[in-house]
Amino acid sequence: MPGRSEKLLNADSDSDIALSFKVSRELFRPTHYALVTGASAGIGKAIVRRLLKDGWVVYGAARRVEKMSDIVDEGAFSLSMDVTGDDSMVAAVDEVLSRHGRIDALVNNAGYGSYGAIEEVPIDEARRQMEVNVFGLARLFQLVLPTMREASRGTIVNISSMGGRIWMPIGGWYHATKHAVEVLSDALRVETRPFGVRVVVVQPGAIQSEWADISADHLEAHSKDPGYRRWVAPMAKLLRNYDRAADPSVVANAVSKAVNSDRPRRRYATPFDAKLFIFLRWLLPEGAWEKMIAMAVR
Ligand SMILES: NC(=O)c1ccc[n+]([C@@H]2O[C@H](COP(=O)([O-])OP(=O)(O)OC[C@H]3O[C@@H](n4cnc5c(N)ncnc54)[C@H](OP(=O)(O)O)[C@@H]3O)[C@@H](O)[C@H]2O)c1
Repeated sequence: MPGRSEKLLNADSDSDIALSFKVSRELFRPTHYALVTGASAGIGKAIVRRLLKDGWVVYGAARRVEKMSDIVDEGAFSLSMDVTGDDSMVAAVDEVLSRHGRIDALVNNAGYGSYGAIEEVPIDEARRQMEVNVFGLARLFQLVLPTMREASRGTIVNISSMGGRIWMPIGGWYHATKHAVEVLSDALRVETRPFGVRVVVVQPGAIQSEWADISADHLEAHSKDPGYRRWVAPMAKLLRNYDRAADPSVVANAVSKAVNSDRPRRRYATPFDAKLFIFLRWLLPEGAWEKMIAMAVR
């Protein structure tokens, strides 16, 4: 069997020439740099692993730096970052830029769910969830945009949720954060397109990670009034039974497609439950959606 280089030298057919272009593109492909937030667990960790496999230089960021030692062993770099602290976001972005001069992809993945009846979630906690899921994400894209604009390239991937398109009772504050991520991403996409920057939204469905237990912990801590029990109890049960949810690698695959494509889609919903619920929300009138949700959460 001839090797790829021999084939290159002996290219005498259209397919050989096509192969030679592909091989030389791979050989001379510049190194790409990614910053992935929320890399100490679940989806973020899977994204780091996937991008390493794709040949990227990957920086993972989170508060629990010690939880990233496994991905560091696999070739990633870790950064300490709290997305509620401006100084730590500035320092992390500066660190990557001072080492490499560029960030080709920012994957804004850090986030959490704080469930509970809208009345019962303390307003400071609702604000904190907005701070992590929306303002942290937005501050980070503000920080990487100047260098992306200067380079006339770069991809910002915002991890939203199917919950950025649909809503359920008891998850209202969380859905509000993810709906905000969707709208910010759409406006940002149009604003930054002339500068060569691409903005992609990834909408995961139910995924195995720490997310569901953290959401359930918040739900149980917030829920006091028995009047809301009809919604709270089934939602807690749903969140505590996430063992059949999909593997985080499905989301990582979508991110990989987005950052490695010359023409990424605006949105990637994955896996099937996300596609289905988003489609139903689009299809059904408000009243029908409310009835369906009432039947699902009981
Ligand atoms: N799992 C699902 O079913 C699901 C579905 C739809 C969307 N999502 C979204 O997917 C994203 C990733 O969630 P996941 O499922 O992988 O959950 P996870 O396992 O709980 O991971 C969340 C990550 O976010 C980081 N994080 C949380 N608060 C932070 C803060 N203040 N500063 C910096 N990092 C912070 C955590 O790191 P540290 O605690 O170490 O800081 C952790 O690495 C989130 O945006 C979530 O809303 C998840």
